[in-house]
Amino acid sequence: MGEVVRVVFLGPPGAGKGTQAKFLEKKYGACQVSTGDILRKAVQDRTAVGKKAAGYLEKGQLVPDEVMLNLVAERLREKDCAKGFILDGFPRTVAQAEGLEEILGELGWKLDSVLCMRVPQEMIIQRLSGRRSCKKCGNLYHVVLNPPQREEFCDRCNGELYQRDDDREETIRARLHVFETQTVPLVHYYRKRGLLREIDGVGSVEEIRARVFRELEEGAA
Ligand code: AP5
Repeated sequence: MGEVVRVVFLGPPGAGKGTQAKFLEKKYGACQVSTGDILRKAVQDRTAVGKKAAGYLEKGQLVPDEVMLNLVAERLREKDCAKGFILDGFPRTVAQAEGLEEILGELGWKLDSVLCMRVPQEMIIQRLSGRRSCKKCGNLYHVVLNPPQREEFCDRCNGELYQRDDDREETIRARLHVFETQTVPLVHYYRKRGLLREIDGVGSVEEIRARVFRELEEGAA
Protein backbone atom coordinates (compact mmCIF):
# COMPACT_ATOMS: atom_id res chain seq x y z
CA MET A 1 0.00 0.00 0.00
CA GLY A 2 1.28 3.45 -0.84
CA GLU A 3 1.83 6.04 1.87
CA VAL A 4 -1.52 7.73 1.39
CA VAL A 5 -4.75 5.70 1.33
CA ARG A 6 -7.91 7.01 -0.30
CA VAL A 7 -10.70 4.52 0.05
CA VAL A 8 -14.47 4.28 0.21
CA PHE A 9 -16.38 1.87 2.44
CA LEU A 10 -19.59 0.72 0.82
CA GLY A 11 -22.14 -1.54 2.47
CA PRO A 12 -25.52 -1.74 4.12
CA PRO A 13 -26.23 -0.14 7.49
CA GLY A 14 -24.58 -2.16 10.23
CA ALA A 15 -22.15 -3.95 7.91
CA GLY A 16 -19.24 -2.82 10.07
CA LYS A 17 -18.02 0.10 7.93
CA GLY A 18 -17.42 2.40 10.90
CA THR A 19 -15.78 -0.34 12.98
CA GLN A 20 -13.31 -1.20 10.20
CA ALA A 21 -12.74 2.41 9.11
CA LYS A 22 -11.38 3.15 12.59
CA PHE A 23 -8.77 0.38 12.19
CA LEU A 24 -7.65 1.78 8.83
CA GLU A 25 -7.47 5.26 10.30
CA LYS A 26 -5.09 3.99 12.95
CA LYS A 27 -2.98 1.83 10.65
CA TYR A 28 -2.54 4.30 7.80
CA GLY A 29 -2.81 7.64 9.63
CA ALA A 30 -5.64 8.58 7.27
CA CYS A 31 -8.79 10.29 8.49
CA GLN A 32 -12.16 8.60 8.75
CA VAL A 33 -14.79 10.77 7.11
CA SER A 34 -18.10 9.42 8.35
CA THR A 35 -20.92 11.43 6.83
CA GLY A 36 -23.33 9.92 9.38
CA ASP A 37 -21.17 11.19 12.27
CA ILE A 38 -20.82 14.63 10.67
CA LEU A 39 -24.60 14.86 10.21
CA ARG A 40 -25.40 13.67 13.75
CA LYS A 41 -23.03 16.32 15.14
CA ALA A 42 -24.63 18.98 12.94
CA VAL A 43 -28.08 17.96 14.25
CA GLN A 44 -26.85 18.06 17.84
CA ASP A 45 -25.23 21.50 17.33
CA ARG A 46 -28.36 22.77 15.53
CA THR A 47 -26.37 24.15 12.58
CA ALA A 48 -28.09 25.07 9.29
CA VAL A 49 -27.08 21.68 7.81
CA GLY A 50 -28.26 19.93 10.97
CA LYS A 51 -31.69 21.56 10.73
CA LYS A 52 -32.02 20.44 7.10
CA ALA A 53 -30.81 16.89 7.84
CA ALA A 54 -32.65 16.04 11.08
CA GLY A 55 -35.92 14.80 9.53
CA TYR A 56 -34.10 12.57 7.03
CA LEU A 57 -31.94 10.94 9.69
CA GLU A 58 -34.92 10.30 11.90
CA LYS A 59 -36.77 8.48 9.09
CA GLY A 60 -33.69 6.65 7.77
CA GLN A 61 -33.92 8.52 4.44
CA LEU A 62 -31.00 10.00 2.52
CA VAL A 63 -30.13 13.66 3.01
CA PRO A 64 -30.26 15.42 -0.42
CA ASP A 65 -27.20 14.91 -2.66
CA GLU A 66 -26.46 18.62 -2.94
CA VAL A 67 -26.19 19.02 0.83
CA MET A 68 -23.94 15.95 1.06
CA LEU A 69 -21.67 16.98 -1.79
CA ASN A 70 -21.08 20.44 -0.30
CA LEU A 71 -20.36 18.89 3.06
CA VAL A 72 -17.86 16.34 1.70
CA ALA A 73 -16.17 18.85 -0.64
CA GLU A 74 -15.54 21.07 2.36
CA ARG A 75 -14.35 18.22 4.59
CA LEU A 76 -11.90 16.78 2.03
CA ARG A 77 -10.28 20.19 1.66
CA GLU A 78 -9.37 20.25 5.34
CA LYS A 79 -5.67 19.76 6.02
CA ASP A 80 -5.88 16.36 7.73
CA CYS A 81 -7.42 14.71 4.64
CA ALA A 82 -4.18 15.32 2.71
CA LYS A 83 -2.77 12.41 4.76
CA GLY A 84 -5.41 10.13 3.19
CA PHE A 85 -9.05 9.42 3.95
CA ILE A 86 -11.54 6.64 4.47
CA LEU A 87 -14.98 7.66 3.30
CA ASP A 88 -17.49 5.88 5.52
CA GLY A 89 -21.11 6.24 4.37
CA PHE A 90 -20.37 8.33 1.27
CA PRO A 91 -21.11 8.14 -1.64
CA ARG A 92 -24.56 6.58 -1.35
CA THR A 93 -26.06 7.45 -4.72
CA VAL A 94 -24.70 7.53 -8.27
CA ALA A 95 -25.02 11.35 -8.23
CA GLN A 96 -22.83 11.46 -5.11
CA ALA A 97 -20.25 9.16 -6.74
CA GLU A 98 -20.12 11.39 -9.82
CA GLY A 99 -19.80 14.46 -7.62
CA LEU A 100 -17.01 12.79 -5.66
CA GLU A 101 -15.09 12.14 -8.89
CA GLU A 102 -15.28 15.86 -9.66
CA ILE A 103 -14.16 16.89 -6.18
CA LEU A 104 -11.21 14.48 -6.29
CA GLY A 105 -10.33 15.64 -9.82
CA GLU A 106 -10.14 19.24 -8.57
CA LEU A 107 -7.85 18.15 -5.74
CA GLY A 108 -5.68 16.03 -8.09
CA TRP A 109 -6.53 12.83 -6.19
CA LYS A 110 -7.86 9.39 -7.15
CA LEU A 111 -9.52 6.62 -5.17
CA ASP A 112 -7.37 3.53 -4.48
CA SER A 113 -10.28 1.16 -3.85
CA VAL A 114 -13.92 0.82 -2.90
CA LEU A 115 -14.36 -1.81 -0.22
CA CYS A 116 -17.80 -3.32 -0.41
CA MET A 117 -18.90 -5.25 2.68
CA ARG A 118 -21.53 -7.98 2.40
CA VAL A 119 -23.63 -9.02 5.40
CA PRO A 120 -27.02 -10.81 5.42
CA GLN A 121 -30.06 -8.85 6.54
CA GLU A 122 -30.85 -10.83 9.73
CA MET A 123 -27.34 -10.19 10.97
CA ILE A 124 -27.64 -6.47 10.26
CA ILE A 125 -30.71 -6.18 12.46
CA GLN A 126 -28.96 -8.10 15.23
CA ARG A 127 -25.83 -5.92 14.96
CA LEU A 128 -27.67 -2.60 14.89
CA SER A 129 -30.15 -3.31 17.63
CA GLY A 130 -27.26 -4.00 20.06
CA ARG A 131 -24.94 -1.22 18.90
CA ARG A 132 -23.60 1.33 21.39
CA SER A 133 -21.41 4.31 20.46
CA CYS A 134 -19.19 6.43 22.68
CA LYS A 135 -20.49 9.98 23.20
CA LYS A 136 -16.95 11.29 23.52
CA CYS A 137 -14.72 9.49 20.97
CA GLY A 138 -17.26 7.64 18.77
CA ASN A 139 -15.78 4.19 19.38
CA LEU A 140 -18.26 1.41 18.56
CA TYR A 141 -19.44 -1.58 20.60
CA HIS A 142 -22.14 -4.22 20.60
CA VAL A 143 -23.76 -5.29 23.84
CA VAL A 144 -23.26 -8.99 23.01
CA LEU A 145 -20.98 -9.32 19.97
CA ASN A 146 -18.36 -6.72 20.85
CA PRO A 147 -19.04 -5.61 24.44
CA PRO A 148 -17.09 -2.94 26.35
CA GLN A 149 -15.14 -4.12 29.39
CA ARG A 150 -17.29 -1.96 31.66
CA GLU A 151 -20.99 -1.91 30.78
CA GLU A 152 -22.11 1.42 29.22
CA PHE A 153 -18.58 2.98 29.28
CA CYS A 154 -15.96 3.25 26.54
CA ASP A 155 -12.78 1.15 26.89
CA ARG A 156 -10.76 3.77 25.08
CA CYS A 157 -11.72 7.04 26.80
CA ASN A 158 -14.19 6.06 29.54
CA GLY A 159 -16.90 8.14 27.82
CA GLU A 160 -20.56 7.27 28.24
CA LEU A 161 -22.08 4.90 25.63
CA TYR A 162 -25.41 5.63 23.92
CA GLN A 163 -27.81 4.01 21.46
CA ARG A 164 -28.52 5.82 18.18
CA ASP A 165 -32.11 7.00 17.57
CA ASP A 166 -32.19 5.40 14.10
CA ASP A 167 -31.30 1.95 15.46
CA ARG A 168 -34.95 1.06 16.12
CA GLU A 169 -36.09 -1.95 14.07
CA GLU A 170 -38.61 0.04 11.98
CA THR A 171 -36.00 2.65 11.00
CA ILE A 172 -33.38 -0.04 10.35
CA ARG A 173 -35.76 -1.61 7.81
CA ALA A 174 -36.28 1.77 6.12
CA ARG A 175 -32.47 2.26 5.92
CA LEU A 176 -32.06 -1.21 4.41
CA HIS A 177 -34.65 -0.40 1.76
CA VAL A 178 -32.89 2.86 0.94
CA PHE A 179 -29.61 0.97 0.64
CA GLU A 180 -31.05 -1.62 -1.76
CA THR A 181 -32.73 0.93 -4.01
CA GLN A 182 -30.33 3.88 -3.99
CA THR A 183 -26.88 2.62 -2.99
CA VAL A 184 -26.61 -0.86 -4.54
CA PRO A 185 -26.25 0.66 -8.07
CA LEU A 186 -22.84 1.90 -6.90
CA VAL A 187 -21.56 -1.69 -6.91
CA HIS A 188 -21.89 -1.73 -10.68
CA TYR A 189 -20.58 1.84 -10.96
CA TYR A 190 -17.34 1.03 -9.16
CA ARG A 191 -16.95 -2.46 -10.62
CA LYS A 192 -16.98 -0.90 -14.09
CA ARG A 193 -14.17 1.40 -13.00
CA GLY A 194 -12.11 -1.51 -11.67
CA LEU A 195 -12.15 -0.15 -8.11
CA LEU A 196 -14.53 -2.56 -6.38
CA ARG A 197 -13.17 -5.04 -3.83
CA GLU A 198 -15.79 -7.26 -2.18
CA ILE A 199 -15.37 -8.32 1.42
CA ASP A 200 -17.34 -10.97 3.25
CA GLY A 201 -18.54 -9.10 6.35
CA VAL A 202 -19.56 -12.22 8.29
CA GLY A 203 -17.10 -13.19 11.00
CA SER A 204 -15.55 -11.63 14.06
CA VAL A 205 -14.38 -8.00 14.06
CA GLU A 206 -10.77 -9.28 14.00
CA GLU A 207 -11.40 -11.65 11.08
CA ILE A 208 -12.94 -8.88 9.02
CA ARG A 209 -10.09 -6.56 9.94
CA ALA A 210 -7.60 -9.10 8.53
CA ARG A 211 -9.66 -9.41 5.31
CA VAL A 212 -9.80 -5.65 4.85
CA PHE A 213 -6.05 -5.21 5.34
CA ARG A 214 -5.35 -8.11 2.98
CA GLU A 215 -7.58 -6.64 0.27
CA LEU A 216 -5.87 -3.27 0.50
CA GLU A 217 -2.41 -4.76 0.43
CA GLU A 218 -3.23 -7.06 -2.50
CA GLY A 219 -4.86 -4.15 -4.33
CA ALA A 220 -1.68 -2.14 -3.99
CA ALA A 221 0.63 -5.00 -5.02
P1 AP5 B 1 -24.59 6.31 8.79
O1 AP5 B 1 -24.18 6.81 10.11
O2 AP5 B 1 -23.61 6.30 7.67
O3 AP5 B 1 -25.24 4.88 9.00
P2 AP5 B 1 -25.20 3.54 8.11
O4 AP5 B 1 -24.64 3.56 6.75
O5 AP5 B 1 -26.60 3.13 8.21
O6 AP5 B 1 -24.14 2.71 8.78
P3 AP5 B 1 -24.01 2.39 10.27
O7 AP5 B 1 -23.20 3.45 10.96
O8 AP5 B 1 -25.36 2.10 10.85
O9 AP5 B 1 -23.26 0.99 10.22
P4 AP5 B 1 -21.75 0.58 9.99
O10 AP5 B 1 -21.66 -0.18 8.71
O11 AP5 B 1 -20.81 1.73 10.17
O12 AP5 B 1 -21.61 -0.48 11.16
P5 AP5 B 1 -20.82 -0.38 12.55
O13 AP5 B 1 -19.35 -0.47 12.32
O14 AP5 B 1 -21.34 0.74 13.37
O15 AP5 B 1 -25.85 7.14 8.26
C1 AP5 B 1 -26.93 7.49 9.10
C2 AP5 B 1 -27.90 8.38 8.36
O16 AP5 B 1 -27.24 9.60 7.94
C3 AP5 B 1 -28.49 7.82 7.06
O17 AP5 B 1 -29.61 6.99 7.30
C4 AP5 B 1 -28.84 9.12 6.30
O18 AP5 B 1 -30.03 9.67 6.78
C5 AP5 B 1 -27.68 10.05 6.64
N1 AP5 B 1 -26.54 9.97 5.70
C6 AP5 B 1 -25.25 9.59 6.01
N2 AP5 B 1 -24.47 9.63 4.92
C7 AP5 B 1 -25.26 10.04 3.90
C8 AP5 B 1 -25.03 10.26 2.52
N3 AP5 B 1 -23.84 10.04 1.95
N4 AP5 B 1 -26.08 10.70 1.77
C9 AP5 B 1 -27.28 10.93 2.30
N5 AP5 B 1 -27.57 10.73 3.61
C10 AP5 B 1 -26.57 10.29 4.40
O19 AP5 B 1 -21.28 -1.78 13.20
C11 AP5 B 1 -22.63 -1.99 13.60
C12 AP5 B 1 -22.68 -2.81 14.91
O20 AP5 B 1 -22.15 -4.13 14.66
C13 AP5 B 1 -21.81 -2.25 16.07
O21 AP5 B 1 -22.49 -2.52 17.25
C14 AP5 B 1 -20.50 -3.06 15.98
O22 AP5 B 1 -19.88 -3.18 17.25
C15 AP5 B 1 -21.02 -4.42 15.49
N6 AP5 B 1 -20.07 -5.10 14.63
C16 AP5 B 1 -19.31 -4.56 13.63
N7 AP5 B 1 -18.58 -5.51 13.02
C17 AP5 B 1 -18.92 -6.69 13.64
C18 AP5 B 1 -18.52 -8.05 13.48
N8 AP5 B 1 -17.65 -8.41 12.53
N9 AP5 B 1 -19.08 -8.98 14.28
C19 AP5 B 1 -19.96 -8.64 15.23
N10 AP5 B 1 -20.38 -7.38 15.45
C20 AP5 B 1 -19.86 -6.42 14.67
